[in-house]
Amino acid sequence: MPLVTSKELFPKAYKGGYAIGAFNVNNMEIIQGIFEAAIKEKSPLIIQVSAGARKYAHHEYLLHLIQASLEMATTAGVEIPIVLHLDHGDSFDICKKCVDGGFTSVMIDASHHPFEENIKITREVVEYAHKKGVTVEAELGRLAGIEDAVKVAAKDASYTNPDEAREFVEKTGCDSLAVAIGTSHGAYKFKGDAALDFVRLAEIEKKLPGFPLVLHGASSVPPDLVEICNKYGGKLSDSKGVPEEMITRASKTGVCKINVDTDLRLAMTGQIRKVFSENPGEFDPRKYLGPARDAIREVVIRKMRLMGCSGKA
Ligand code: G3H
Ligand code: 13P
Ligand code: ZN
Repeated sequence: MPLVTSKELFPKAYKGGYAIGAFNVNNMEIIQGIFEAAIKEKSPLIIQVSAGARKYAHHEYLLHLIQASLEMATTAGVEIPIVLHLDHGDSFDICKKCVDGGFTSVMIDASHHPFEENIKITREVVEYAHKKGVTVEAELGRLAGIEDAVKVAAKDASYTNPDEAREFVEKTGCDSLAVAIGTSHGAYKFKGDAALDFVRLAEIEKKLPGFPLVLHGASSVPPDLVEICNKYGGKLSDSKGVPEEMITRASKTGVCKINVDTDLRLAMTGQIRKVFSENPGEFDPRKYLGPARDAIREVVIRKMRLMGCSGKA
């Protein structure tokens, strides 16, 4: 089955009240773990590649690994719709490279620019991508970074403004919009109780009925994964993510795509730490990357069930 665009998945997700998991990939084991989960769960899938991942593993390697996984799924008699997406493209140039290089969806993240400039850059990407049949995610509002999360006082300055969201979508023609409602990237999202602004999310939805929204920074940093990391030498005791019930709640709204990277990193690293702690002399990569791949599969299955996309392929 060929790769599909987000246009083929989001309307169904919107109507069906579920979200599709978008998982970041950097190497073969991560890709395999995610595909194993999608096949087991019969779930649509968004595989996403950041600029850093593209630099690390190279565009062609990632593309071919994903194509290999698609062929293997087809051979196994399973057809799962898959989007290959650029995560956080920060310029027209990287978006163009991915559009030209086989991606079916790109994110232009010009959210660090002023509103009008964000519109201008996003529109340029939309015009180019749409001519080639590729869908575009954009971002309005700014997610806190790991350090910023501690001192975000100007809440409204970084959260997505619902009125601006409508104007932004109308003027850019983007296909989906990443919104800032309290999540942040990384393993340290909340100091105390998790606070997602569901009221704001509902207001954005009201201004953009039927339009697919995207939630970034959605890792839950589950205590059991943190515990494995810490048990074998990690130091993640203050980590707090988005509670799993909030992922399910968000999935039932206009949020059609939920991004997860940190939880995959935790799952993978925990297993690798475990192997080396239990057997410091191990030096066969298959002995630690194999368990890491299994852990990725399990965490992705867990996410798919929380988001409600299991069985929706
Ligand atoms: O949102 C960012 C993703 O977690 C990707 O992270 O740029 O380190 O690959 P990265
Ligand atoms: P996490 O760091 O919460 O996994 O978010 C990932 C993300 O938003 C990728 O774009
Ligand atoms: Zn992100």
